[in-house]
Amino acid sequence: MALIIKGGLVFLGEKFEKKEILINDRGIIEKIESGTIRGEEIIDVGGRLVVPGLIDPHVHLREPGQEYKEDFESGSKAAISGGFTAVMDMPNNKPPTTTKERFLEKIKRAESARCDIFFHFGGTDDNFSEVKKTNPESMKLYLGHTTGELMLKNPSSMERHFREFDRKKPIVLHACDDTGDQTRDLDQTHHNIEDAIKLAKQINRRVHIAHVSAREEVTIAKRFEGCTSEVTPHHLFLSKKDEKKLGYFAKVNPPLRAESDRLLLWSKMDVINCIATDHAPHTVEDKEEGAAGFPGLETSLGLMLEGANRGLIDKISIFQKMSRNVASAFNLENRGSIKKGFIGDITIIDPKKEWTVDRTDMYSKCRWTPFDGWKLHGKAETIVRKGELVYHDYEFC
Ligand code: NCD
Ligand code: ZN
Repeated sequence: MALIIKGGLVFLGEKFEKKEILINDRGIIEKIESGTIRGEEIIDVGGRLVVPGLIDPHVHLREPGQEYKEDFESGSKAAISGGFTAVMDMPNNKPPTTTKERFLEKIKRAESARCDIFFHFGGTDDNFSEVKKTNPESMKLYLGHTTGELMLKNPSSMERHFREFDRKKPIVLHACDDTGDQTRDLDQTHHNIEDAIKLAKQINRRVHIAHVSAREEVTIAKRFEGCTSEVTPHHLFLSKKDEKKLGYFAKVNPPLRAESDRLLLWSKMDVINCIATDHAPHTVEDKEEGAAGFPGLETSLGLMLEGANRGLIDKISIFQKMSRNVASAFNLENRGSIKKGFIGDITIIDPKKEWTVDRTDMYSKCRWTPFDGWKLHGKAETIVRKGELVYHDYEFC
């Protein structure tokens, strides 16, 4: 059945306008009008923000291999409740997603997930023929030490992947280096990005810098127009200052930076393309043992709206960076905008909803968050996936 969403302020890419949306029975947006759409299946969302289903370009849903931390069911529920209708999953599974067989297995496992899941393919020093065989839509290269075994060890591998993989498709770069030494890590990160950008520019290949955490990374990335970048809410809201309170929970790659770096990062928001959660859930026990990573799917939207409340960013930029820009960076067709002919994925937000982050009330299996107890304003209230109401009034349908 067709669905009509009326009464809301609809995000049209550059502005919000009072409009009605008709999504047809094939789940495609058919009309966006003012006061003229008639029909039966109507949801009235008076005063809410109606935005394209949010897209997260960077999550770790841990399936297969570490389902005790997260799986496609729990991770996709966390996504939907956080406002996301699509996420892009990273390849650092156990075993890593570096062969066609493992890649296809992930796609199959994710079929019944609550949201759409896309997959980044992992590049290694010796899987060039697997990349060719699989021909994925994007790749991920780990240039520095990180969790798992996915780091490139041979300096010539990056260049070979850069040249061989379809140059119009993005290669996502994890540039930071988990050395434990902040200054060395930042220097190494800049060095890795500098090298990568130089080569990408020379051969004209698309690249995407994952989780920028300091202003300089953005400045280097901007030397090449074929480069896009993303920032995480945790690098925008937390810094070394918070490490004392968070203890072993504070460990993340890239590490939390100095408070001055955090503030300067906000000054680069106009040239950072995407907001990414880098949702990297670990159990409390694993954190105690030194695992790096934060969950983020359920807090990202609330935090970014908090940024708007504090006057650090405007709502138009937030939704561009959480939908349209992600679709465009990763060539995701017919997504990321409320437009005629696009997929009917819609997120409806109550911007005034007051809520408190509560680690005991989360869909993610990890059961903790560095934002536990934070009071936020604004939450996804209703989610429409391909024209179907899947989450309504803060509950799964
Ligand atoms: C990531 C994870 O746990 O998969 N952790 C993180 O801190 N971002 C791995 C990584 O990107 O290093
Ligand atoms: Zn990550």
